[in-house]
Amino acid sequence: MFGKNSKIVGLFILVLSVFVQLGSALSTSSIDDCPQLPARSGPTGVNDLRPDDIKVMAALGDSIMAGFGLEGINDGDGGSGLLNLSSITEFRGKSWGIGGDKGAVTLANFVKHFNSSLEGPAVGKHLIFLCKEHADIDILNSAISGGIAKTLNAELDYLIPQMKELPNVNFENDWKLITIQIGSNDQCSSCSDNNADVTADAYAGYVDAAIERIRDEIPRVIVNIVGTFNVSGVYESTMEDLYIESLIRQEYCRPLFDQPDWILNRILCECFRGTEQDRANMDTLSAQYSAKLHEIYQKYNAQQSDGFAITFNPALNLNIGELPLEALSNIDCFHPGVRAHEWISKIVWNNLFKPQAEKPTAIQNYNENEQIYCPNENDRIRID
Ligand SMILES: *[C@@H]1O[C@H](CO)[C@@H](O)[C@H](O)[C@H]1NC(C)=O
Ligand SMILES: *[C@@H]1O[C@H](CO)[C@@H](O)[C@H](O)[C@H]1NC(C)=O
Ligand SMILES: *[C@@H]1O[C@H](CO)[C@@H](O)[C@H](O)[C@H]1NC(C)=O
Repeated sequence: MFGKNSKIVGLFILVLSVFVQLGSALSTSSIDDCPQLPARSGPTGVNDLRPDDIKVMAALGDSIMAGFGLEGINDGDGGSGLLNLSSITEFRGKSWGIGGDKGAVTLANFVKHFNSSLEGPAVGKHLIFLCKEHADIDILNSAISGGIAKTLNAELDYLIPQMKELPNVNFENDWKLITIQIGSNDQCSSCSDNNADVTADAYAGYVDAAIERIRDEIPRVIVNIVGTFNVSGVYESTMEDLYIESLIRQEYCRPLFDQPDWILNRILCECFRGTEQDRANMDTLSAQYSAKLHEIYQKYNAQQSDGFAITFNPALNLNIGELPLEALSNIDCFHPGVRAHEWISKIVWNNLFKPQAEKPTAIQNYNENEQIYCPNENDRIRID
């Protein structure tokens, strides 16, 4: 009798331990639910990093990384959206890649959950185009609104000295994760007569130079490249059936001059004022940029060293055309709103723990309930 019971108990423990094993691949809807990682004596090298080993985060990019307009505006009764200062504000502390505002769903806050001594995330907001005077807010968010790949070098001019000056950072020894996402303005500018800087070759040259500079000037770093997505998708989701079916879109996207098709995104993106062919060309260019980024990834991956590695997250598969309206900023129906920022942060975070060959490339639609992977003690930031 006793013996039989202990067998049952034994079986129960076996079943339980199988569940615990399965349960160790945990995903949750809030990073707060992820268990802390057990302490250890520190990483043996760049291929052995867990999120709690990252001491410094930084980002390069454009107005998306700067967090431009992400909170949108609600001007209430009689307000005028365009006169509201929120419509020219960069919400740096909520940027998907490097926002450090308390409670913001961002890549930086996911990392910070595992090590509260993380340095670099931006905190707060400020008006656009004043970033030099706002190092106290931007911290290591060196994105510049309007930036193209060519701008990355100027961003590094800000970033590198800024990183060296941060108190509590040991520039030589601390492990750093630098996220780069650039190419949306480049796509939009491809319709301009003056587009020599945004050809696929020019784009690749500028990105390559930025990565080379990071490798040469910043010790102990992982460069986290996030690919380009198809910006033309924003046109599809805001413009295409505007007249015919959607008053809601008109109200949300606030067309100018009482002209239903004059949404601000047509001012911000030159190709949105062009033809359908122009927008198809943007997609082709975006795919060429992403192919170049992949080549750059392969080149630098082959040069991996004790203190340098690179990862590449495909983003061409993110279905921008299917973003719900409320995931875009209602300031211009161009910039991602807070929901899209949150979605991107989760996708890029989850990708960090997958080897290159397993990072998803199939079309991915917006998912408000996208889960957040909880790394366990066996997980590493994958650079293979
Ligand atoms: C946080 O990171 C620092 C620097 O890498 C390290 O010394 C410290 O042990 C980490 N703390 C935790 C809780 O992992
Ligand atoms: C501007 O937008 C903010 C954020 O939505 C809102 O709280 C504020 O009331 C608006 N101001 C005006 C004058 O409409
Ligand atoms: C983006 O455009 C490229 C080139 O046309 C295409 O291969 C890719 O599937 C598109 N992505 C999405 C999500 O539609």
